[in-house]
Amino acid sequence: MSSLHVILTTGANRGIGFSIIQSLGLRSPQNTYILACRSPSSGADAVKELQNLGVKAKLDVVELDILNDETIVKAAKYVEEKYGRLDVLINNAAIASRPKSESLADMRENFNTTFNANITSVMAVTSTFLPLLHKAEEPRVINVSSARGSVTRSANGQMPPAVVVSYGVSKSALNALTVEMQRSEDAREGNEGGGKVEYFTINPGHCKTGFNGFKGIKDPLDGAEVVVQLATAGRGKWTKGGFWEFEEGGMREVPW
Ligand SMILES: NC(=O)c1ccc[n+]([C@@H]2O[C@H](COP(=O)([O-])OP(=O)(O)OC[C@H]3O[C@@H](n4cnc5c(N)ncnc54)[C@H](OP(=O)(O)O)[C@@H]3O)[C@@H](O)[C@H]2O)c1
Repeated sequence: MSSLHVILTTGANRGIGFSIIQSLGLRSPQNTYILACRSPSSGADAVKELQNLGVKAKLDVVELDILNDETIVKAAKYVEEKYGRLDVLINNAAIASRPKSESLADMRENFNTTFNANITSVMAVTSTFLPLLHKAEEPRVINVSSARGSVTRSANGQMPPAVVVSYGVSKSALNALTVEMQRSEDAREGNEGGGKVEYFTINPGHCKTGFNGFKGIKDPLDGAEVVVQLATAGRGKWTKGGFWEFEEGGMREVPW
């Protein structure tokens, strides 16, 4: 990808989202990175931390709560007015939690809450930013999924049984959503001055973040690597609409 891209990551104030900006910012300082956070003050703190870590790229913060449509629309308006387009959207923010009890009501609440954040919000954020992505020359959307989203790995017994079923199933749905988004983009007619969007879904691996009480085995910077590769590669290098991970020193496709 050429220089001067505008790259927005949801949930960028900590964890893998923060590491994505850190790694991209150090390696591609010519780009602008927008930290889309539900708490702008945590975004501002993250910017200071990134600068202390040596990131010299332009960093910007915008309020975006993936569960709040008003903030999604406002964030897109802000990006439109300030930058006029968006080159890369990274849908990173997500949640995982167990039902509060075994009651049917709590089970329903848990599934609906998880799907609202991990699926409906990805659809809402992406469709709101789509007109801005269509103004970029080589637009791409990277959805942060999980190995838990691989039905093949679960069915093969490669993954231990899920502790949080709603989460794993939401990530399988995110993979399916990525495929459908790519198909609908490929079938789209018309051109708003930019290129067609390439969609990717990724597995960062089990990373040490607040998501799992810092029990993961990978440094989140290593988990971010697959996103860095997809965000910076020449167009067409990695199969669009595919499910990717970076393991054992290289990129590989994850079975659906
Ligand atoms: N960690 C792992 O081992 C692992 C493995 C596979 C996949 N993943 C995926 O990686 C992604 C990032 O996870 P992580 O490990 O970095 O988690 P994390 O450290 O818990 O960070 C989650 C991020 O999402 C944000 N977020 C949550 N709800 C939000 C909302 N409503 N609006 C905006 N932002 C919201 C959080 O913001 P606040 O600070 O405001 O809460 C935080 O920035 C997720 O999609 C997760 O499913 C993680």
